[in-house]
Amino acid sequence: MRTTIFDIQSKKQRGERFATITTYDYTSARLADQAGMPMLLVGDSLGMVVQGQSSTLPVTLDEMIYHMRAVMRGAQQALVVGDMPFLTYTSIEQAIATAGRIMQEGGVQAVKLEGGAAVVPMVQRLTELGIPVVAHLGFTPQSVNQIGVRVQGRQADVARQLIHDALALQAAGAFAVVLELIPTTLAQAITERLHIPTIGIGAGPHCDGQIQVWHDLVGLFTDFVPRHTRRYATVAESISTALHAYQADVQAGAFPTNEHSSTMKADELAAALASLVQD
Ligand code: KIV
Repeated sequence: MRTTIFDIQSKKQRGERFATITTYDYTSARLADQAGMPMLLVGDSLGMVVQGQSSTLPVTLDEMIYHMRAVMRGAQQALVVGDMPFLTYTSIEQAIATAGRIMQEGGVQAVKLEGGAAVVPMVQRLTELGIPVVAHLGFTPQSVNQIGVRVQGRQADVARQLIHDALALQAAGAFAVVLELIPTTLAQAITERLHIPTIGIGAGPHCDGQIQVWHDLVGLFTDFVPRHTRRYATVAESISTALHAYQADVQAGAFPTNEHSSTMKADELAAALASLVQD
């Protein structure tokens, strides 16, 4: 049985912390699903870690849907959330059209969008239409050119606004809210005031859940290591070692061997060669 939004919400009621992660393809989704992650996000961070862009802004809806379909083939149990990309929810009508394509073509169970008061009407309408929504507050990467990459909410007025936004998004129907790059104490204050789960990334240990970017967590993205990441593996190093070993084996004639190759009867080859001569 696939995890539902109610399963995610009941974790908060039970005081059960949970880990979630981004995935962008079949193989990673399968591994995360088999590890028992209750929720996976097909994040537009794929713009950076998969496409090599400098931000999430160039990612298109078609590209997001392509990755969602791959993730859905790998995730049998987890609730899969799909990010709504930059400028695809500027009005209620556009948000409905975008979320509609994400649900119908991407096949995921919920959408995520960034922003506070400005997106409350979209969240309300989408949830009225039966589309579960995850909100996203704090550092919102789609606004990077407006706000820069920095911790949000250190000043009282911004912190107050974030608390208001979180409550308004909850009232509008969001079933969870991602809190990115905000002070630990502010994340705790928001978590205590909401009955929906908070999911932190760079927001300290008091959120109900945590989310990390796949490539950061397994050590696959090596351009930089965000402060909020703990590397649980060094996959890039393992891959690099494997690639060097493969190259060396091919150059030395040590790969492939008979073990990796197919045989045919000598007389069949002789017959093929003989017929070549007759031609
Ligand atoms: O796109 C993404 O990966 C995200 C997470 C950082 C929450 O939005």
